[in-house]
Amino acid sequence: MKRENFTSRFGVLMAMAGSAIGLGNMWRFPYMLGEYGGAAFILVYILCVFLLSLPILFCEFIIGRRSQTNAFGAFGKLAPGTAWKWVGLISLFAPLIIVSYYSVIGGWSLQYFFKACTFGFTDYVTHEELDSMFNDFVSSPLIPILGHTFFLLITALIVMGGVKGGIERFGKVMMPILFVVVVLIAVRAMTLEGASEGITYLFKPDFSKLTPEVCAAALGQSFFSLSLGCGTMLTYASYVNKSENIAKSSAAIAVSDLVFAMIAGCAIMPAVFAFGLSPQSGPGLVFKTLPFIFSQMPLGALVGILFFLALLIAALTSSISLFEVGVAYLVEEKGMKRRTASLSIFLVTWIVGIFCSLSFGPLSEFEILGNTLFDFFDKLSANFLMTIGSFLVVLFAGWKMKKADVMDEFTNGGTLGGNVRMFNFIWFIIRWIAPLVIIAIFLSNLFI
Ligand code: PFF
Repeated sequence: MKRENFTSRFGVLMAMAGSAIGLGNMWRFPYMLGEYGGAAFILVYILCVFLLSLPILFCEFIIGRRSQTNAFGAFGKLAPGTAWKWVGLISLFAPLIIVSYYSVIGGWSLQYFFKACTFGFTDYVTHEELDSMFNDFVSSPLIPILGHTFFLLITALIVMGGVKGGIERFGKVMMPILFVVVVLIAVRAMTLEGASEGITYLFKPDFSKLTPEVCAAALGQSFFSLSLGCGTMLTYASYVNKSENIAKSSAAIAVSDLVFAMIAGCAIMPAVFAFGLSPQSGPGLVFKTLPFIFSQMPLGALVGILFFLALLIAALTSSISLFEVGVAYLVEEKGMKRRTASLSIFLVTWIVGIFCSLSFGPLSEFEILGNTLFDFFDKLSANFLMTIGSFLVVLFAGWKMKKADVMDEFTNGGTLGGNVRMFNFIWFIIRWIAPLVIIAIFLSNLFI
């Protein structure tokens, strides 16, 4: 069977940027910033993006496009008869775990979008009231599960539509809209009276806040945000044409992801400070604080609708990519039909996601290593599975693949002069810097 490919360069970029840009930028990044101290966290984060995540993205591109197969099969195909094939196992489990809890937040976004559309926030005047509205909402057993269910269903339907008709088409239309909406909100937030404290928080680093934990969190966030180490980018890269410039595309994706996170930060932090709220509200930050801000600002109801629509779109384009990893595996390795494969992934992640959703309410007492199921999955994936997955990806490209093959893929057979000149530097990072820095941060966080 002939594999489907992305059909246009813009489509590839939008689908991959769509995977990268998501709740990680608009929900996770702001609350990490709040928890880990603003500008200092941003600085480490930016270093991680360019020094580590971008080269890892190169590697996922190289492995995916060279193998022309799904993330599970790729390692076995490029290194037949070796234990490397087991690396693909991470790409079987990590996306399932991530999508299960990701869709809970996706469901919240969906329900907040509807609330915004029906002007549900204007009745709540004080921050405390909005706070308790959020707490009541997430801790109720049934309603968030409905959101989770619908969010996953929409994802499954789009993935069923295939690579070209579903994923590429959706990304191409939605990503530019998303960008415009978030920029609008950022401009509005930054011009609020009293926004300057939030801007200082974002841009003036306090280095006393830098600890191994902050570095590990920034590293994990950079992997999470660029969808690395769990087979997603690798799978999408396998649909990319041989003529595509890997360096350029990866850089465009990494930069737009970073810009998006920063714009989201600029949309949220100044507003949080302008209204005297706490940046340390954890996963509820966006949901607890922004509706208050919308209820207080001119044209807030409209801005609220736009914001939650943007959040929803961003979440969908990412969960689609997480789904696609499993679907590609089931179709190519197990011979399933695309529709059956999508439904199977839906079923598994729906059931696991229900437990994640309940961990904000009836199951909040159930803990694994001191974390609720939701927090456990979040940390397990960002700080552990994706870090290990990314580490194995660079090891594979840097130490198992032949240098000539990596170079061939990176330079399109030597035809891209700029990439040829860059190659030795990139090769050094892939072989030495990336693996060593990942180990150092990972271990220092475990033991210090
Ligand atoms: N990068 C996505 C975000 O920032 O929301 C989340 C994500 C998507 C993580 C796909 C991992 C992944 F494979």
